[in-house]
Amino acid sequence: MKRALIDLERQVGDALISDDRSGIDVLGYGEISTVLRLTVDGRSYACKRLPPFPENAIGPYREACTAYLVALGERGIRTASSTIEIVPTEGHSVIYCVQPIEDVLLVDRLRTAGPDEVATLADRLVAVIDEAIDERLGLDAQISNWALDSDGEFVYIDVTTPLIRDDDGNEMLDTDLFLASLPAFLRPVVRRFLLGEILSHYYDARAALLDLIGNLKKERLGDAIPVFLDAANRVVDPPITDKKIDRYYRNDAVMWEVLQRLRKSDRWWQRTVRRRGYPFLLPGKVDR
Ligand SMILES: Nc1ncnc2c1ncn2[C@@H]1O[C@H](COP(=O)(O)OP(=O)(O)OP(=O)(O)O)[C@@H](O)[C@H]1O
Ligand SMILES: [Mg+2]
Repeated sequence: MKRALIDLERQVGDALISDDRSGIDVLGYGEISTVLRLTVDGRSYACKRLPPFPENAIGPYREACTAYLVALGERGIRTASSTIEIVPTEGHSVIYCVQPIEDVLLVDRLRTAGPDEVATLADRLVAVIDEAIDERLGLDAQISNWALDSDGEFVYIDVTTPLIRDDDGNEMLDTDLFLASLPAFLRPVVRRFLLGEILSHYYDARAALLDLIGNLKKERLGDAIPVFLDAANRVVDPPITDKKIDRYYRNDAVMWEVLQRLRKSDRWWQRTVRRRGYPFLLPGKVDR
């Protein structure tokens, strides 16, 4: 696996320099990581490439991930089997989180399911989320972060942002690592005014469900919104309203769109003016 990852990282490096993605198979662009497909000995893996970390941040990151996986398990959440691999490249190391490819993604199942199955899945997922989340353990509950295993149980796949707090309520994750994907001038502003707010949503079941429902539209699952809204409103108080969903979706879409544009300008600046490499693969145009 290590050998294959080193080759993969070399291909990513080439893609970053040439801006030609034809040599790599991108499964998904996250706001932070890039997910690449890699086939080794006939088995396919989802390899999540994290932003470049300083060497001394790698150990603590791995610890936070391990603690997160354990805590999720204790709350009854199945997670995709995940290994953290450190891939050496020239000058620094890159972290990959490697998972077997899940055969059934929840978004795909929902697209083909009949109304009764959608309602059952919605009820069950809402219950899983509501029981797991508290102020110590967070979830990015969005629909694209779940798969279904052969028992039909939900499997959480987006484990690269460990949303777990210690006994004193501090994030185990060094959040600066994730701010590094933003243009430098933005980082202090986001750290000071937005980070706490963004993170707090993951540790609150109502906010996490609002996020899940608000993003169904982005996944072309708008028809499922009323069903998920009913399911959520059976467990949250005060109830989530349609108006709130609309407003949420618009704000969220605008925020990420602005961030993506800023990153693209930053990439242009770094490459053209500063004549430096830019270390992230950015998505093309995202339909929101
Ligand atoms: N194990 C997997 N099997 C199949 N597809 C996967 C797997 N892991 C990720 N994917 C695909 O890649 C997409 C993005 O992966 P994931 O949610 O883990 O990261 P992310 O959203 O990029 O994370 P972040 O936004 O926190 O950086 C998923 O929504 C899914 O479509
Ligand atoms: Mg995700």
